Amino acid sequence: MILLDGKKTSAELKQEIAADVEQLKKEGKKVPHLAAILVGEDGASQTYVNAKVKACKLVGFESTLIRLPAETTEEKLLNEIAILNIDNDIDGFIVQLPLPKHIDEQKVLMAVDPDKDVDGFHPANVGKMALNLPTFISATPFGILELLDRYDIETSGKNVVVIGRSHIVGSPMSILLAQKRKRGNATVTITHSRTKNLKEITQKADIIIAALGIAEFLTADMVKEGVTVIDVGITRIDDASKKSGYRLVGDVAFDEVAEKAAYITPVPGGVGPMTIAMLLKNTLLARSRR
Ligand code: GUN
Repeated sequence: MILLDGKKTSAELKQEIAADVEQLKKEGKKVPHLAAILVGEDGASQTYVNAKVKACKLVGFESTLIRLPAETTEEKLLNEIAILNIDNDIDGFIVQLPLPKHIDEQKVLMAVDPDKDVDGFHPANVGKMALNLPTFISATPFGILELLDRYDIETSGKNVVVIGRSHIVGSPMSILLAQKRKRGNATVTITHSRTKNLKEITQKADIIIAALGIAEFLTADMVKEGVTVIDVGITRIDDASKKSGYRLVGDVAFDEVAEKAAYITPVPGGVGPMTIAMLLKNTLLARSRR
């Protein structure tokens, strides 16, 4: 079994991005500037946004974090977005999800200038992605493609099963892997909560992308020998033996599935770090396009 090391791979990617930033500086050009809006106090969201800001510093990007209280109105948030849209110094920005219930998420995502939408969540960018046109590919599916690429895992003609149909991961992942592209050309099956006989389907998979958000859902009896498993899940499980009081587990029962897998991502240290690196890559792309 070979571990798909997202931590190591993302560190390599960040080094490459940092070298590109150095080159921009040498040429007297502006370095990329990423902004993030965080609404409310959600613990996981704060952790993710802080990690994104830290990654910006590491590669030499400028970053701006805009923290807004949980009771922020939709109007106020839309106003902040409008300001970032016209701020010439900002190359790209993200609105961290989930948003508080009183805010219409779709309305917010549609307010972001598609040219600054480094999350790739605007319908215009989702449409371009689906048509295989140049755009910002969302960080998580983009990171998975990059991980498959760096480990030279063949996808062409392979049976890929995606578990989960979220807008952020399952749906774009299934589209991208089926496209005529590097790390595409797969025969993709997308499965979800209404899928019947899931086990029969996953047992035939050469590659499984588990992105349903249920801890340790994919078990050894559901996979064949030699499978490649990409685990997108990340759930906090209470664990009194840990200093933090919790441990992180994925959607895959790692220990037992690892025994049958040819390649598998760990949690943490697999897909998670890759998403941050790809957000940086999209921000660099946004800078170069402007
Ligand atoms: N929440 C979970 N994943 C993401 C992501 O990729 N981007 C943003 N903005 N919020 C998220």
